[in-house]
Amino acid sequence: MKKVGILTGGGDAPGLNAVIRAVVIRLAVEKQQDFQCIGFIDGWAGLRDNKTIKLEPGKVDSILHEGGTILGTSRTNLYKKPDDVKKAVQNYHQLELDGLVAIGGDDTLEIAYYLHRDEGIKAVGVPKTIDNDVMGTDFTFGFWSAVEQATQAIDDLRVTTMSHRRVMVIECMGRHAGWITAYTGLASGADFIAVPERPVHINDIAREVRHCRELGKAHAIVVVAEGASIGGIEPKPRVVKEGEGWKLSDKIERDSFGNVVLKPGEIAEAVASEIEKLTGMETRGIALGHLQRGGAPSAYDRILGTRYGLQAAEAVVHGHFGHMVVLQGLRVETVPMKGMIREQQSEAKRYKYLPDSFLDMAEVFYG
Ligand code: F6P
Repeated sequence: MKKVGILTGGGDAPGLNAVIRAVVIRLAVEKQQDFQCIGFIDGWAGLRDNKTIKLEPGKVDSILHEGGTILGTSRTNLYKKPDDVKKAVQNYHQLELDGLVAIGGDDTLEIAYYLHRDEGIKAVGVPKTIDNDVMGTDFTFGFWSAVEQATQAIDDLRVTTMSHRRVMVIECMGRHAGWITAYTGLASGADFIAVPERPVHINDIAREVRHCRELGKAHAIVVVAEGASIGGIEPKPRVVKEGEGWKLSDKIERDSFGNVVLKPGEIAEAVASEIEKLTGMETRGIALGHLQRGGAPSAYDRILGTRYGLQAAEAVVHGHFGHMVVLQGLRVETVPMKGMIREQQSEAKRYKYLPDSFLDMAEVFYG
């Protein structure tokens, strides 16, 4: 009997349960080898503290439609304390694991990669984040569910915005990359979209808002990413240009993984108050915040999560450790984690950014 561990790390995303379910069920029906799955509670903290639960097909069969993760999650960086790595490796061996499926964003995958490279842990990575900014994969699961949630919210907000003939500034998640903001902005017919990848000035936004009025529209919808680069307001842009890419400004607070820590609503409020001053139009700001991570996974994310889970189980069966599963075009593939991980990437190249072509297309409707 071979034992395989599964964990979910970082911010949750709709579709995590779909991956867990697919890994457990695929390994249970494997004909050539016998597998048993265990789950670690709260991500890497569960491996470090040896907190586990048994995962059997009966337990996971009905979780496909549920958001969040039945395993719990945390932002635990084992590499912050050398003892934590030791404990995690010890537990892995004591449990006699023959594989470990780590489902998470670039932080979680980076730890999986180091544990595989330096400690011989048989890790397989599955990329997740609503932000869709993980290198190597066209889409992470969770992204489309977040876009659905945010689009629905903006449709609802448009109603009250129109009644009051106001400007509504809506903040979406995305501290490094503007995928959710740009896709949601396009889907909801926004009058301006501001993302980290394309720096703008507050005057550009004000000009578009005035333009709406000239067109005879009494309201305007502005969608901004929480990490948007907007000159002329406080907070100052957190992402600054570096060569061909971007890097996080030195002057910001970071978490244990080096991610920028943002205050929800900060940028929406700053933009709203400045727009009101510049245009004379009554303006409100709102952050959609964690609503974007909540709710049930969309059908797309249930299917993508299922495909990722099946492919991860396949990698375990065939011993393709140190690999992660990715979506490339229509195909789900397994690729080496080396090369996808920030280890050899400058900060500018660490994230998958929105392509210019998407932003150019979106600008047809404002700019
Ligand atoms: O998981 C990514 C993300 O949702 C970012 O978009 C956001 O900035 C961050 O997580 C929020 O993290 P937390 O849930 O720890 O506040």
